Amino acid sequence: MFIIVNLVTIKDIYGLASIDFLMLTMKVKNYIFFNILTIAMSEKYQKLLEIVKRELKGASPAHDISHVMRVYDLCLLLAKYEKNVDLDVLKTAALLHDIARVKESQNIDHTVLGAEVSEKILRELGYPEEKIRHIKHCIIAHRFRGAVKPRTIEAKILSDADKLDVLGAIGIARSYILAGEYGQKIYVDTPIDKYIKENLVGGKHDGRIKDLSKHAPNIEFETKFKHIPKKLYTRKAKEIAKERLNSYVSFLKGLKRKLKVNYKVIVLYI
Ligand SMILES: [Fe+2]
Repeated sequence: MFIIVNLVTIKDIYGLASIDFLMLTMKVKNYIFFNILTIAMSEKYQKLLEIVKRELKGASPAHDISHVMRVYDLCLLLAKYEKNVDLDVLKTAALLHDIARVKESQNIDHTVLGAEVSEKILRELGYPEEKIRHIKHCIIAHRFRGAVKPRTIEAKILSDADKLDVLGAIGIARSYILAGEYGQKIYVDTPIDKYIKENLVGGKHDGRIKDLSKHAPNIEFETKFKHIPKKLYTRKAKEIAKERLNSYVSFLKGLKRKLKVNYKVIVLYI
């Protein structure tokens, strides 16, 4: 409350435009979110966080440390609704799950490499072997298009939390960051069955993408995001996904409408 009152005062004093004010509010919110979570962490997790931050230096904003922190936060939320969750395994796996993301390529799967890198880190930090095995499974099994499926409750929660972060407003923003990085179009209007056959490995909607430049956020939605509810394990995640999926659908509908209108205008002027 104190912060909100002071932000409004700042807006008035400096005569900020609404968009600037919105940006300022978001920055403050992110700052508070990130720092409260960090302060609430015990020394062991802060140490892990520092290692992950270092490894993710230069990462895409779609997969940087703020994504890791959102997933960590979602994991804690989902865990509240589940029984017998080993929070130490879950927190550690959440922090480490994308540690090898920067090294991801056509030949390197960041979940496999991430599990290997994490094993070394955890051994040095004195984690027991049983826990390391457990955490490695969470990391390897968190990928949507991965072959290994989550077997434990901690792996299921991490997988769900990671998927929730691709939906809703954050998901839309992340999709377009990736679209820019891969040289994709804003929207690709193509028959989805034909696309899946031609550009996804095995001709399956969850096959890996062959040519990333032919992909687009709306294709990603059709082949991946809309199938997410079927891939979620926890009740709370399914509930959150429903809401986030709806906002993605209405965004894409509006975008398609807008693009069609623009096209008609161009035709009219030719
Ligand atoms: Fe992730």
